[in-house]
Amino acid sequence: MRILITGGAGCLGSSLVERYHSMGHEILVLDNFATSARGAMRATNNLVVVEGSVGNAALVDQCFSEFAPTHVIHSAAAYKEPDDWIEDIETNVQGAANIARASLKHRVKRVVNFQTALIYGTPEVVPIPVEHRVAPVSSYAISKAAGEVYLALIAHEIPYVSLRLANVCGPRLAIGPIPTFYQRIKAGKPCYCSDTVRDFLDMEDFHSLMDTVMEDQAPAGVFNVSTGEGRSIKQLFDVVAEYLGHIPEGPIRIVPPGSDDIKSVVLDPKHTETVLGWKAKIGFEETIKRALKWYDEHGVAEIFSHLIASTPTTSTMSEAK
Ligand SMILES: NC(=O)c1ccc[n+]([C@@H]2O[C@H](COP(=O)([O-])OP(=O)(O)OC[C@H]3O[C@@H](n4cnc5c(N)ncnc54)[C@H](O)[C@@H]3O)[C@@H](O)[C@H]2O)c1
Repeated sequence: MRILITGGAGCLGSSLVERYHSMGHEILVLDNFATSARGAMRATNNLVVVEGSVGNAALVDQCFSEFAPTHVIHSAAAYKEPDDWIEDIETNVQGAANIARASLKHRVKRVVNFQTALIYGTPEVVPIPVEHRVAPVSSYAISKAAGEVYLALIAHEIPYVSLRLANVCGPRLAIGPIPTFYQRIKAGKPCYCSDTVRDFLDMEDFHSLMDTVMEDQAPAGVFNVSTGEGRSIKQLFDVVAEYLGHIPEGPIRIVPPGSDDIKSVVLDPKHTETVLGWKAKIGFEETIKRALKWYDEHGVAEIFSHLIASTPTTSTMSEAK
């Protein structure tokens, strides 16, 4: 395959670059390094890295013309400045539209998009089925929802897959409670837990799903990607604390979710399991401990947040993309 990966230096993108490169596929990464570093991708043959924005239609078209991808993985997303609506629109809406148009024009074989579970807004039912109504309540989620609708316009001509993701845990994860707890406990700083529930998915399970949906004959469509099991942020804290051998001096403070946060986000993967024959295999504790082990070996990078109400001591401990 010749795979064009937008946001290929990010957490999910770089893990897929490593995976597909090691399988012998040719890869072009288009990334502006807004929330990642060039060094995330080890220098390799058959890897072209273009620095720039998916919001730049001419650049996107040039990448498609020169690289001639057979497959596109759209992983780029803006979220780090919750009040920067324009950047969210340029990257998440215009960028998705640019990828959609270029994919049609250059006749790629398959497009895979990554979507946030936050597009469901405050769910009417948990776990959230894939047919649940979309009602985003933040600039990040609104713009990601609009981008997905533009990409769906290609579905009548190109197999198009959109994966609505649980919190994928693994190398280079730089958002949310796992790196935050790890870093703060190690620094001897106090931790607080937001009173929220999330689902967590191991990178290895995410990879096995990606391998399934990248196949030529795989069904197209929109899929929830999750274990379907919700865990409180306090349960997550307990795993990190135990892993680091940390015994809190007193009870951990539980704080209400911030105004732009959502109390319970757990995706229902039944449709995905039935249609794609995929099922997550790795349990909650093992998933978290594997992510922590990676921090032991590589450290925690700069931690980003998409929550307006976020402060270093409270809501960064609940959020998830
Ligand atoms: N990681 C998760 O658990 C998770 C959960 C739900 C959804 N997602 C979605 O998966 C995708 C990847 O997320 P991630 O966790 O790897 O985030 P990430 O921040 O690590 O990666 C995003 C990448 O996009 C790049 N980028 C940002 N704006 C860009 C632009 N205008 N042009 C080109 N590149 C740009 C960033 O520099 C970064 O390398 C995103 O679309 C996100 O919404 C991720």
